[in-house]
Amino acid sequence: MTGREKELVARLERERSLSQEEYAELITNRDEEAAQLLAEAAANARRAVFGDAIYTRGLIEISSICKNDCLYCGIRCSNGQAERYRLTPEKILDCAAEGYALGFRTFVLQGGEDPYYTDKVLCGIVSELKTRHPDCAVTLSMGERSRESYRALYGAGADRYLLRHETADKAHYARLHPPEMSFENRMRCLHDLRDIGYQVGCGFMVGSPFQTPEALAKDLKFIEGFRPAMCGSGPFIPHSSTPFRDEPAGTLELTLFLLSVLRLMLPEVLLPATTALGTIHPKGREMGILAGANVVMPNLSPADVRRKYELYDNIICTGEESAQCRDCLERRMEAIGCYLAVDRGDAPHWKRK
Ligand code: SAM
Ligand code: FES
Repeated sequence: MTGREKELVARLERERSLSQEEYAELITNRDEEAAQLLAEAAANARRAVFGDAIYTRGLIEISSICKNDCLYCGIRCSNGQAERYRLTPEKILDCAAEGYALGFRTFVLQGGEDPYYTDKVLCGIVSELKTRHPDCAVTLSMGERSRESYRALYGAGADRYLLRHETADKAHYARLHPPEMSFENRMRCLHDLRDIGYQVGCGFMVGSPFQTPEALAKDLKFIEGFRPAMCGSGPFIPHSSTPFRDEPAGTLELTLFLLSVLRLMLPEVLLPATTALGTIHPKGREMGILAGANVVMPNLSPADVRRKYELYDNIICTGEESAQCRDCLERRMEAIGCYLAVDRGDAPHWKRK
């Protein structure tokens, strides 16, 4: 690490901001020493806001049916090999009840863009979840919808919405998605969600095909300006039945580096150590926490469908029961001096509109 990188890290820590060119410079010239310096500063920033508490979210993968055809994703509509399923509202409520008993106070409903989940159906599930578990937060991650739909879901009680922007570079976006999907609509969704009052999560895959340090710097600058409550960023991992089957996966090293940058940029952001990170390295999630992340999202989906929600190859935790995942993560977090909080884990200072 040269004096220049040291100066950039110190300034990021002090001012929570660098220029886009400086982010690109930091990424391009990074080395182990710079990563370690960043990780230490990021872990301190995490502890200053959240102490040793790690927030958990119970992930319920409600459908593997998707009308979209994102080139990187294993459940894209043109993957004829993918096994499709959809959970009934009763099944979703059962998963949440099991999660509640295990100590989860946030449920994340995630799925493909499945037309079955109309506003009426999804609002019904959200409001029933909130009636049965009034002390819990509900996060939705159901893709692009209209402003009216987002408003209806917020009205039904949804608290948070995860919609990764995937890349802040329009030309890069076009190389990862089919022509019928647009960068403008993705950004429109994110702004609508924030205006409505959700705690909003954006994010990107690390090492997605055609990604450059300059594109990553754009992601960082976008996130710095957008100030999301949450930011989901994990490595891209190829899926064998997609056009990107032969592309290399994103690296552990770059993912950890970027998690640290994100934590220093937004000390209060809810930052998951993702399942993808746990997939590329057996200790990936622990390393993510040590690099500045503060959220884990173990799987609450019924064991018999997990294998079918295959976004990428070799996804972990498909054979585990929910209780096993929770216990496993509890041990993993305790081994690094943290604990799983039984808490909604809202963004600090957030108030519902
Ligand atoms: N349909 C919703 C959406 O688009 O936001 C939620 C489900 S989508 C599968 C959730 C996220 O999975 C995407 O935002 C993407 O970043 C991530 N993902 C998809 N394919 C992936 C892959 N091959 N490697 C890593 N992450 C992937
Ligand atoms: Fe699922 Fe470890 S978190 S088995």
